[in-house]
Amino acid sequence: MDYQVTVIGSGPGGYVAAIRCAQLGLKTAIIEKYDTLGGTCLNVGCIPSKALLDSSEHFHNAESTFKEHGIDITKPKVNLKQMIARKSDVVQQNVDGVAYLMKKNKIDVHTGLGSFVDKHTIKIDGKDGEKTITTEKVILATGSKPASLPFIKLDKKRVITSTEALELKEVPKHMIIIGGGVIGMELGSVYARLGAKVSVVEFLDRLIPSMDSTMGKELQKSLKKLGFDFYLNHKVTAVTAKGKEVTVTAEDSKGANVELKGDYCLVSIGRRPYTDGLGVENAGINVSERGQIEVDDHLRTNIDNIWAIGDVVKGAMLAHKAEEEGVFVAEQMVGQKPHINYNLIPGVVYTWPEVASVGYTEEQLKEQGRAFKVGKFPFKALGRARASMDVDGLVKVLADQSTDEILGMHIIGARAADMIATGVTAMEFRASAEDVARMSHAHPTYMEAVKEACLAASESRPIHI
Ligand code: FAD
Ligand code: NAI
Repeated sequence: MDYQVTVIGSGPGGYVAAIRCAQLGLKTAIIEKYDTLGGTCLNVGCIPSKALLDSSEHFHNAESTFKEHGIDITKPKVNLKQMIARKSDVVQQNVDGVAYLMKKNKIDVHTGLGSFVDKHTIKIDGKDGEKTITTEKVILATGSKPASLPFIKLDKKRVITSTEALELKEVPKHMIIIGGGVIGMELGSVYARLGAKVSVVEFLDRLIPSMDSTMGKELQKSLKKLGFDFYLNHKVTAVTAKGKEVTVTAEDSKGANVELKGDYCLVSIGRRPYTDGLGVENAGINVSERGQIEVDDHLRTNIDNIWAIGDVVKGAMLAHKAEEEGVFVAEQMVGQKPHINYNLIPGVVYTWPEVASVGYTEEQLKEQGRAFKVGKFPFKALGRARASMDVDGLVKVLADQSTDEILGMHIIGARAADMIATGVTAMEFRASAEDVARMSHAHPTYMEAVKEACLAASESRPIHI
């Protein structure tokens, strides 16, 4: 055999799995169909979206808060070409970083579409022709692609996915977003901050519906201030593009139609697992009706030498979930006994304020019939938040009614993305709300809101409210 392990797909799942395999002494190869490594996350996902979120946030602050901070500047102008160029540069630095890591760990990189000939043989169809490699074990990490609706024609010019929204040549006048989830709120924020009118059509009754419902409600208030319009409980029935105009028709819960006209329509209704061209049938791998590669609790497929991880299998479609799974599979291959607590994989939305969440939501605890206490603390009561003018948001802590164990932490506010790590740590160690409330938190910090929310949950006695 040429390799002990071959990883197909170089996203955060695949490249991390390959590194861990190599660290554990396995002769490893990785196959990627695109010229750059890093998958969706580094090329058209996490990294470029955060680069544009950061740039647009600077612009928005220059326009809206500098004056109050005592900084007088002439009216700032958007240079979208430069903003996109900087984003591409950030992407390049990151994908180069992955290429360096492959070299450092002596992982062979094969560029081209990988497809099974049989369960130990993979054909690689690259620019320089075809080659075949043999391998003892395989890790599938082929990721996902944007989902759409059967009646929507994604022309990728006016009716676009997140990939095109990261490369626009102009700031839309009116961007209509189908789907009030993570992508819609993040990329909608980018263009709203740069001056676009943004309208969101969401099928359910709230935004970011997979999170605790308080988060969606609070986020909606903040984004409304940014100028977003929301059409919740609306089902899209038609999308048409003619010249520079896009028309989206949607039906509300009573059957009444609304018609929205804009110049761009972003379709962000989720992503679908990607196995096109992989030849799963040649290896006999089972794929579910939803297109996910079926795996057991050890992430092994029905074929004994093949595992699958990341967006292409069940579970949250998140880069850090894919990474944990990559490490998990590699360590199992050498006989170790790794563990992943899926309930403690945090979720983050990089809007401003940011939203971050770990553990159970209030809705889930109610569904479980579990007795719990709620502690909340608003950012506006924090000295740090007043100093920085980031007063929107709150921390919500859910703790078991009798044991006080933290069951969920949900944060909307400045730096929530970084703050949520404390919730993960506390919950991994099965801390009580009182444990966290009695730890010293530096003053003045946003983290004081976590301490206060824990005090509120544990003993109903926050200090500063
Ligand atoms: P992917 O990253 O999708 O990588 C799969 C790779 O496999 C691709 O490079 C693909 O070309 C390759 N491939 C597929 N089939 C083959 C084949 N047959 N042969 C060779 N190569 C193949 N997640 C977060 O956690 N945080 C974020 O902030 C975040 N932001 C996002 C923003 C956007 C706009 C999008 C779209 C996604 C974002 N995500 C974020 C989700 C994140 O990108 C994915 O969860 C993550 O990339 C999944 O990793 P993966 O390794 O499973 O697959
Ligand atoms: P999503 O699952 O977050 O949101 C999709 C939204 O579309 C939901 O609110 C859903 O109710 C709605 N929807 C579905 N069908 C609809 C219809 N027919 N009409 C109107 N609304 C409809 O999916 P999204 O935003 O496309 O993102 C895909 C994935 O990418 C996410 O699941 C997430 O895991 C990942 N991602 C993660 C990010 C992060 O971690 N910060 C950032 C961006 C993406």
